[in-house]
Amino acid sequence: MLEISRDGRTWLLTGPSSGYAVHVTGRDELVHLHWGPRIALADAEALAARPLPEVRGFESALDGHEEYPVEGGPRFVRPALSVRTEERRGTEWAFERYDAEDGELRLRFTDAGLAVTLHYRTRDDVIERWVTLENQGPPVEVLRADSATWTLPDRDGWRLSQLHGRWAAESRLVRSELTYGEKVIGSRRGHTGHQHLPWVALDTDATEERGEVYGCALGWSGSWRIAVAGLPDARVQITGGAGHDDSGLLRLATGESFTTPVFAGLWSDGGFGGASRAWHAYQRAYVVPDADRDRFVLFNSWEATEFDISEEQQQALAARAAAMGVELFVVDDGWFGARTSDRAGLGDWTPNPDRFPQGLKPLADHVHDLGMRFGIWVEPEMVNPDSDLYRAHPDWVQYQPGRKRTKFRNQLVLNLARDDVQEYLFGQLDALLSGAPIDYVKWDFNRSFTDAGWPGDPYPQRLWVDHVRAFYALVDRLRAAHPGVAFESCSGGGGRIDLGVLSRTDQVWTSDNTDPLDRLAIQHGFSQLHPARVMAAWVTDSPNVMLNGRVSSLRFRFVSAMAGVLGVGGDLTRWSAEELAEARDWVALYKEIRPLVQRGDLYRLRPPAGGLSAVQYVLGDETVVLAWLQAQHYGEPVPPLRLRGLEPAASYVCRETGEVHRGAVLLHHGLRPALRGDLDATVIRLRRI
Ligand code: DGJ
Repeated sequence: MLEISRDGRTWLLTGPSSGYAVHVTGRDELVHLHWGPRIALADAEALAARPLPEVRGFESALDGHEEYPVEGGPRFVRPALSVRTEERRGTEWAFERYDAEDGELRLRFTDAGLAVTLHYRTRDDVIERWVTLENQGPPVEVLRADSATWTLPDRDGWRLSQLHGRWAAESRLVRSELTYGEKVIGSRRGHTGHQHLPWVALDTDATEERGEVYGCALGWSGSWRIAVAGLPDARVQITGGAGHDDSGLLRLATGESFTTPVFAGLWSDGGFGGASRAWHAYQRAYVVPDADRDRFVLFNSWEATEFDISEEQQQALAARAAAMGVELFVVDDGWFGARTSDRAGLGDWTPNPDRFPQGLKPLADHVHDLGMRFGIWVEPEMVNPDSDLYRAHPDWVQYQPGRKRTKFRNQLVLNLARDDVQEYLFGQLDALLSGAPIDYVKWDFNRSFTDAGWPGDPYPQRLWVDHVRAFYALVDRLRAAHPGVAFESCSGGGGRIDLGVLSRTDQVWTSDNTDPLDRLAIQHGFSQLHPARVMAAWVTDSPNVMLNGRVSSLRFRFVSAMAGVLGVGGDLTRWSAEELAEARDWVALYKEIRPLVQRGDLYRLRPPAGGLSAVQYVLGDETVVLAWLQAQHYGEPVPPLRLRGLEPAASYVCRETGEVHRGAVLLHHGLRPALRGDLDATVIRLRRI
């Protein structure tokens, strides 16, 4: 809901439990008034009437109070907008007008020929913010155009939560005191990166289930930056957007415009758990396509076969997967071109004639006959120098003239800013999806930008931004042309996970780390922002082949992977008859609890910190708990798990034991899971009676 003051200079956005207010002063300064619990318009007006705190000496009254600090004039905070023309640098804007349409508020300012419009849209308690620049004046170099600056209220003792990592160790939660100065996270890699998810949360005293939490998440799959600033008077501002530094984002010729990605913000007073549930609900309702449709149990061939694949061997895996109850069979890398290792073939998206002499159709038909859907792996944005594509078009890659072309994993990045590259890729992928009954595409991206150059394109080069837009456009176009096909975003695991990619893909590959114990921490971090509905997790072989050789039971591996979109990725031809039978039971159990996991409310009961950890999902009258014991010490029994989200006055029957529990008892005294030893796990289903 949007309310506007009579003078048209104060705006109040209201969500189900939150409020957000801004005001334009008589001097055309856009001042932030409120972000927190719901307030009345009269409260916002009272805040607008308060003068800015008096400052002395070297300080600026505007710093820490502006909604979108531009560069220039009496401000010393990090500017969200920094532009320059041939003549001058910075912005001195005048308020032109506001528009409010379909729940979206637009505040438009102008500085000579440049119009800057701030956009706001409420999605329940999430506020989506972004900015458009329209240039009708002389050419402008946009050094920086952040999507939003979020201002937090005056409080002592802010803490910052972030999700950091690297390859095979993504999205690990770290929480630290925010001190004065700036904490900057981001990616300089051309993609979202494994190093940070583009999200931060700030609190002063929140717990998992109580207290105020402010969160901000960016929807951009290229380089990005979020800066969290502890200002001298202890105010906090968070500014974020596309691009990794201030040296140049793009140029706007006369008549050109630029729209930033969305930087979404959420205030919650339900603690970290409440904030996560609100983020999950937002993504399921407004971001992820078809989120009310549950994702399938898939099999993926990568860990089983790597590059050494053949039609017969894939058929053998498919037969075992189908018998286990798998619903979608995905052939990973190695089916196309001369791709028998990572040294060749990327770019040539036609089936390898030695491996698939009749193309992919016979295997796809076989998989369909077994009652499963069929999926393939692609990495369209890349090329191996040893490929027909590169031999024909060596200039189609990102490169700097006269410089080395850096190879990571023996591959180069195609310059997707080029129209001819976009057309080639659409043609190849469209033909692929038209030539065989393919239901699912795992879209990978296995190296960062290193030589991001485009000879002839003037600095700042458009390709950083245009690559991402072309990637989005390609996926959008393929989805439109093949509406039945689902897409997975992968980047060597979780190197491209953000709200931008999630708005056009059905699920993401969380991490190449499939060790079920490491995964608990990765999934714990991931769940701070993203819902289980998009978090793919596979059960692979034991000992773990890819990473650490850890031995774990099928039970532990399954219960770990059942916390997301369950997949199986082991070499099923080497699993015993007993293991295959046990796996079939786990898959059947997962299908029963799947609606709760993928659409329910998530409660993190205990974090993975060495001993007992657990999550709970609640949907309607049903609830399920997944619990894991890393190590039992001194023979001590595991502590009881206090459940959440239940009716105290109701009773719940346990599907595993038949016992009936009172809601109040489960909420206040808990349930002790039957776990012992090392790496044990269990599933507890309860239904309200
Ligand atoms: C990286 C992905 O994360 C893996 O799952 C697999 O698809 C390989 N690429 C294939 O090259």
